[in-house]
Amino acid sequence: MQILRIDSAVTGANAISRKLTQAMTDHFMATNPGATLVERDLEKDPLPHIDQVTTGAIRMPPEDHTPEMAAAYPAERAVLDEFLASDVVIIGAPMYNFTVPTQLKAWIDRLGVPRVTFAYSETGPKGLAGGRRVIIASSRGGVYETGGPADFQEALLLGFFRFIGLEAEIVRVQGIGFGPEALEKSMAEAMSQIAAL
Ligand SMILES: Cc1cc2nc3c(=O)[nH]c(=O)nc-3n(C[C@H](O)[C@H](O)[C@H](O)COP(=O)(O)O)c2cc1C
Repeated sequence: MQILRIDSAVTGANAISRKLTQAMTDHFMATNPGATLVERDLEKDPLPHIDQVTTGAIRMPPEDHTPEMAAAYPAERAVLDEFLASDVVIIGAPMYNFTVPTQLKAWIDRLGVPRVTFAYSETGPKGLAGGRRVIIASSRGGVYETGGPADFQEALLLGFFRFIGLEAEIVRVQGIGFGPEALEKSMAEAMSQIAAL
């Protein structure tokens, strides 16, 4: 069993989403003795924004690659393979300016690959990446309804993973900006949700 932990907060070691991903990682490592843990910190090791070369490397068949795409292919494919090799994927996803950090978007941009994680058929798109658990550690300064008019963070992640065949689960801490009491209450709720994952 492989557990993949992704962090994307840029707010340092005290990031709320990192507290959640740490607790989730501890939980899954304790309940699955012998599991392998793979950690990817997108703040420390950011992925470049996709461009013609990186997109071509991962979305075009190798025989159509330019030399630049061929050179970029191993690293691009490794990001996708790491995801596909994981049984549990824990994703730290703060809300920054109503959406996910740009670092996390760069990671997602490497997962939506035709014929690998989704395919179009006569009946519409079909997700091909099912069979793993995705858990989102969401942190937000305000309070939002998932999928409401100002939520481009949880809604984006739920929609993307659904498109590739996965129903992501969400554990959230929100209302952080309302003060320490609100934070403590929301954090306690999240921690008991994590214990039950
Ligand atoms: C760059 C930046 C942008 C933010 N934008 C929003 C926002 O649009 N809505 C909101 O409710 N909170 C916003 N916040 C507050 C964060 O969601 C909140 O501080 C949360 O704890 C961030 O997660 P983290 O602690 O894991 O970094 C923002 C914080 C930062 C640093």
